[in-house]
Amino acid sequence: PSILRSDYVPLAWRIDHLDLHFNLDPVATIVKSRLRCVRNALAPAAPLRLFGEDIELLDLTVNGAQPAPDAIRRTADGIEIALEGESAEIEIATRIDPSANTTLSGLYLSRGGFFTQCEAEGFRRITFFPDRPDAMTRFTVTLEADTATCPVLLSNGNLIEQGPLDGGRHYARWEDPFPKPSYLFALVAANLVSLERRVNTASGREVLLQVWVEDGNLDRAGHAMDSLIHSMRWDEETFGLELDLDRFMIVAVSDFNMGAMENKGLNIFNSKYVLAKPDTATDIDYENIESVVAHEYFHNWTGNRVTCRDWFQLTLKEGLTVFRDQQFSADMLGRMAEAGGEAAAASARAVKRIDDVRVLRTAQFAEEAGPMAHPIRPDSYQEINNFYTATVYEKGAEVIRMLHTLLGAEGFRNGMDLYFSYHDGQAVTCDDFVDCMAEANGRDLDQFMRWYGQAGTPRVTAQGRYDAESRSYTLTLTQHTPPTPGQPEKLPLVIPVAVGLIGPDGADLPLRLQADNHGATTKLIELTEAEQSFQFTDLDFEPVPSLLRGFSAPVILELDEDDARLAFRMAHDSDAFNRWDAAQRYAERVVLALAADAAAGRPLAVPAAFVQAFRALLTNDGLDPAFRAQAAALPAEAYLLERMAVADPAPLRAALMALMRELGGALAEEWLTLYKKHEVSGPYRYHPADAGRRALRSLALKYLAAAGVGEGLERAQAQFERFDNMTEGFGALAALVHSASPAREAALDAFHRRYRDDALVLDKWFALQAGAWRWDAEAAPVLERVRRLMEDPGFSTENPNKVYALLGSFFRANPAEFHLPDGSGYVFWAEQVLALDRRNPQVASRIARALESWRRFTPEIRDRVGVQLERVRSVTGLSPDVAEIIDKALGEG
Ligand code: ARG
Ligand code: ZN
Repeated sequence: PSILRSDYVPLAWRIDHLDLHFNLDPVATIVKSRLRCVRNALAPAAPLRLFGEDIELLDLTVNGAQPAPDAIRRTADGIEIALEGESAEIEIATRIDPSANTTLSGLYLSRGGFFTQCEAEGFRRITFFPDRPDAMTRFTVTLEADTATCPVLLSNGNLIEQGPLDGGRHYARWEDPFPKPSYLFALVAANLVSLERRVNTASGREVLLQVWVEDGNLDRAGHAMDSLIHSMRWDEETFGLELDLDRFMIVAVSDFNMGAMENKGLNIFNSKYVLAKPDTATDIDYENIESVVAHEYFHNWTGNRVTCRDWFQLTLKEGLTVFRDQQFSADMLGRMAEAGGEAAAASARAVKRIDDVRVLRTAQFAEEAGPMAHPIRPDSYQEINNFYTATVYEKGAEVIRMLHTLLGAEGFRNGMDLYFSYHDGQAVTCDDFVDCMAEANGRDLDQFMRWYGQAGTPRVTAQGRYDAESRSYTLTLTQHTPPTPGQPEKLPLVIPVAVGLIGPDGADLPLRLQADNHGATTKLIELTEAEQSFQFTDLDFEPVPSLLRGFSAPVILELDEDDARLAFRMAHDSDAFNRWDAAQRYAERVVLALAADAAAGRPLAVPAAFVQAFRALLTNDGLDPAFRAQAAALPAEAYLLERMAVADPAPLRAALMALMRELGGALAEEWLTLYKKHEVSGPYRYHPADAGRRALRSLALKYLAAAGVGEGLERAQAQFERFDNMTEGFGALAALVHSASPAREAALDAFHRRYRDDALVLDKWFALQAGAWRWDAEAAPVLERVRRLMEDPGFSTENPNKVYALLGSFFRANPAEFHLPDGSGYVFWAEQVLALDRRNPQVASRIARALESWRRFTPEIRDRVGVQLERVRSVTGLSPDVAEIIDKALGEG
């Protein structure tokens, strides 16, 4: 039952106003709605189509009367009503049971409060409605609830009335002045308190900002509030976009399927992306909160004021908004680091870029190489919730970034201005967006549009030839995108490649490319054909190319570089991203060679030249600590598995362990020196300079602990025993857990005693153990521990964060333990997917996806996984979410 992008039909009836009334009750909430329907003259005549799911219809009238029986028809997913004339008023009453809603989609309960999540299709679980993003409606909402349990009543827009009612109840009435699709509706009725700030927008309007949390958590709301204010300022300065409401609210909730949701004026957040104080949140938590708060805030323009015509266009708002939040974070980090000079600011920005690319390469490249491969604008889906993917979000952001690169910051801004001038208040397509970029810049972007339709990671191969006679260097680039399911042939894309050429002394050379003589050291070239050559002149030596600087396009660059050349770029590349990338490529090569040795039963010997290059980079005090921490961290295991011809987790793990032991042991002195030198003094502050030092110190402890260096373990133990911030406390604990030291269990117990009542901190504790490697050969398989931890009173399969922390970490971050040769991991996976699916299909589907790339593994693994995939598929009553993943994994999707 696939839905096709090509099947789009405009709405026959628009709903210009919706009046909603909720009588909130945990087991029997009554929802009354009044819809003002207006015939859409631009669409073919058709009945009014209302979607509804898992809700009980109590009453329905058309223009105040019962409709004739033949005017109304129940369908599999709702109701169709034949309407006469140009307009009609429909009144509907439904009953829902929030306490039975375990899906966390629609209206549900969390810790006694009522919350909603409507994107993508949750509104139809609240009332019958044209629940699709092109149905833009003005909402008025009245909430009635018990005053004692739900003292706070929130919805979108402005509060226009509130007061007491009989029987210990009260009400509030909200009006949203902006038309919006139903996926942006939200309500909250709960016992919460708020941190408030009043600020002025750029044009001088005073607005009220609130961050709502549970009582007792106000001391953890400050960073989210600061992030919100920074986001407002940034959007005003960068894009001239102002907050359009008098009031903007963020609400933290403990039970939430995703990260957060941009409901108009009432953003609802997973508490993980709101709550932070130094002794419970790490530097990475602080950074994530800042970027998620920004992301949801930025949606107010890119998503809400201009929204998507249909869900195939999801990347229109998500790719663009991820790009915006990435730019924002880079600017914020850069600005904070500026105190340390311009180089520090540039490095902070580069480190952010490295983080973003790491995510893309690990999660998105794998997705595009497997059965769920899809273009950033998919052509079909079975369950839209399965398409909130790394491809739509992260690759989508890279596509927007390429437009920004090709058009320049000013050209991009002009395109954005034109986009809002044409489409404010509309539900549009990705074509509309790219058309604005084209028009504002007088540039043909037809070929560029292929990025929206073609799946698969393009391969770019580069070959250079130096001609001493003509003192020229010819760079030949070819591109090729491998076939993906349903897309055997691919066409050439527009690929911006930022090129630098490095001279023998390590310095960048001025570039003279054909007629273009400006002599800059990085030049953007556009690869638009399957193969193209570019000639650089006036070169006295054969240069070393540095390609795709800053990761200028989401491609896999295939460059034939020997070890010496990688070491050279690791030492000299002026582009921080490429310098990091050279280190990663070299490490990848070493790890994969070691894995091949391990698979063949040969002894594992780490090449001395690599250790030398690694040492040189690590001890280069000219490099910012955060950058060194990035460069010295080995590529992610999931990424390396993807890079193996046949994915084989056991030898890969053996290789990684051998490499970490060697780098920890051979460089023990260097690590200890770094550790001592980079201690951060003074109280905790969220700042890239401090965070970089902490990251480098934690990494030092990790390598030292892995190698079993006594002094390293002692330092980790000492740091763990007296820490005043979670970054250092957890860094030390992680080092101890990733070691063969017997101290690790006592440390885990101590941590548990201290934080057992703090759900978010406990999640870190679960995740750390689920992702632990077996440094101690005597230790039991991690699966045994995971099963045991499921019995911990702090664990619950009902809470998505717990499931992601414990099960998600085990399945995704611990391949060697998940894929133990006895197949026990897959049996466990199938049990968990099936159990979760009965409660919460979105969570189950995310967990199910951990095995989608099973065909890339060894035959032994494939045999065992295949059995479990079939087992899950054979179960009746699977959700469409899980069914789609399993079908596609088995190759029949
Ligand atoms: N729009 C939200 C965000 O990116 C995510 C909503 C995800 N919903 C879902 N059903 N998958 O900020
Ligand atoms: Zn988003």
